[in-house]
Amino acid sequence: MGLTILWLDILHPTSAFGLGVLVEETHDHATGDIPFGSVDELQAALRRQTYLTDRGLATVIHLALALGKPLLLEGEAGVGKTEVAKVLAPALGRELIRLQCYEGIDAGQALYEWDYSRQLVAARAPDLHLDDVKDLFSSEFLVERPLLAAIRAGSSAVLLIDELDRADDEFEAFLLETLSEFAVSIPEIGRVAAMRPPAVVITSNRTRELHDALKRRCLYHWIDHPSLEREVEIVRVRAPEVPEALAREVARVVSRLRDMELAKHPGVAETIDWANALNYLGVAHLDGEVAAGTLGAVIKDHDDEEIVRSRLGEVFERG
Ligand SMILES: Nc1ncnc2c1ncn2[C@@H]1O[C@H](COP(=O)(O)OP(=O)(O)O)[C@@H](O)[C@H]1O
Ligand SMILES: [Mg+2]
Repeated sequence: MGLTILWLDILHPTSAFGLGVLVEETHDHATGDIPFGSVDELQAALRRQTYLTDRGLATVIHLALALGKPLLLEGEAGVGKTEVAKVLAPALGRELIRLQCYEGIDAGQALYEWDYSRQLVAARAPDLHLDDVKDLFSSEFLVERPLLAAIRAGSSAVLLIDELDRADDEFEAFLLETLSEFAVSIPEIGRVAAMRPPAVVITSNRTRELHDALKRRCLYHWIDHPSLEREVEIVRVRAPEVPEALAREVARVVSRLRDMELAKHPGVAETIDWANALNYLGVAHLDGEVAAGTLGAVIKDHDDEEIVRSRLGEVFERG
């Protein structure tokens, strides 16, 4: 598939200094060459990146890639949502571009901003002529943020929009627009568009409900905590030095902690950390006393810690 330099809708004379967009020639909606012929192949490729998926997750990732739709992943913290994008990028041989959402994030922080301080310095150059002023709004002074980077990269990227629930409604609406167009008009420079969109993974910890309009555009998957067997396997691939018996004991205790009414349930990262910590300490067998001494690896909230401590006997009694 050939490569073209594409210039679109040049809106402003300063566009002579503007952005050339490198895009692949394309058909609608396709997200680029996808090296996986089947769900099994995708699952195997992610496993090579030490990410273990169940069939449901692998299927929805495969479909999102094949249909060129964004993938919306929801689930509790620590179930492996962000990691999907992180492993998908190398599995596809693409660049990962990450937009971390936070309260108050706006379009400028996500798309592009002008570098005012450098513009100011340039504007004060003694030999600056009036004609040169337009140069101050050339791509040289444009600060590219993740969405613009993703538009420019097109199908050579995986775009991770992480923790979208932290951003406000207005930002979500802006994002929806960006996702439908994968183009941006920069008044001083011109329009930049990706003919083939990047693969997009959106995550939400569901601290608020996302809008239906956004959900309609995406394929959706809820990631649960892994089953006991799957979690043992995950510890084994992520921390191969931990013996299987210890990995199993840790995963079993963690799954019991997840049954408790806690403010924050331990995620898979905590299971891995705990197993690593115990192995580092030379622990071969996890009992109540050892657990009490190392709880900080797995419980990260003071109230939760008190609840768990008071019930450790019960956790280990169940054998
Ligand atoms: N299915 C999985 N296979 C391998 N590692 C996993 C899996 N799920 C979670 N992990 C581990 O848990 C860590 C936390 O996952 P992360 O994607 O950050 O969670 P979330 O984004 O859902 O809060 C990852 O860095 C990874 O080490
Ligand atoms: Mg995350």
